[in-house]
Amino acid sequence: MENRLKIGTRLLSVAKMVGKTEKMADIGSDHALLPIWLLGQGSVKKAIAGEFGDGPFSRARQAAYDSGRAAQLEVRQGNGLQILQPNEVETVVIAGMGGDLIVEILQDSPDKTNSFSRYILQPMRHEAVLRKWLSEQRWPIVREELIFENQKYYVVLETHPGNTAPPLKDLEILLGPRLLVSKDPKVFQWLEQMQNKYAQIAQKIALSRTATQEEKSMWKRRVQQLEKILKDFYI
Ligand SMILES: C[S@@+](CC[C@H](N)C(=O)[O-])C[C@H]1O[C@@H](n2cnc3c(N)ncnc32)[C@H](O)[C@@H]1O
Repeated sequence: MENRLKIGTRLLSVAKMVGKTEKMADIGSDHALLPIWLLGQGSVKKAIAGEFGDGPFSRARQAAYDSGRAAQLEVRQGNGLQILQPNEVETVVIAGMGGDLIVEILQDSPDKTNSFSRYILQPMRHEAVLRKWLSEQRWPIVREELIFENQKYYVVLETHPGNTAPPLKDLEILLGPRLLVSKDPKVFQWLEQMQNKYAQIAQKIALSRTATQEEKSMWKRRVQQLEKILKDFYI
């Protein structure tokens, strides 16, 4: 069956990062676009779409049926990873929600969370909350990419359970260890924007009567570190 489905830039970036995988689960699948597209590409053999809300669950079930892929795509209703058995899939995607909610889902049942081989996570905001949690677990961020869609930047990252990574530093938690060493021109533009934003914050904080010396130094340091990264970007 030909893959006629269209997906946007953000979900396409998520799909590319999923790549080839035997069995995947999409948690918070809503319209089930991602698993249907992946099955259409033939890069995934079996998929499970998980949804919490009644409306999105019905939407996902209908979409699975309409796509003609219901035999390969099972739609389950429930909270986060609770719809899965341990080890049931290889790859878990959690996309299109806040980084804090993604952390809540990952924290819910640690044994089960740790049973899956790889996660593709795509926070819409609060990325730093997610990276901080991954850093505390010592899960490595093996890939991270910047997405530009509808005039906004988003990130998508791949991580694997396991106590294998050193803890992230302050700027790495804020902006992503892989993005800070990326050579993608899109990342350069984004880092420039972040540097301007941080410089404005640092200026305000430097003049603040309530901010501590520690906070003032931290913001100054962040701006200086970003300046250096931008200066060396194309070297
Ligand atoms: C904005 S949609 C994202 C849909 C799709 N993943 C994407 O990236 O385009 C977020 C979906 O996550 C679902 N959701 C939120 N919390 C959830 C949870 N704890 N377990 C399962 N689904 C959840 C919501 O019902 C909603 O349909």
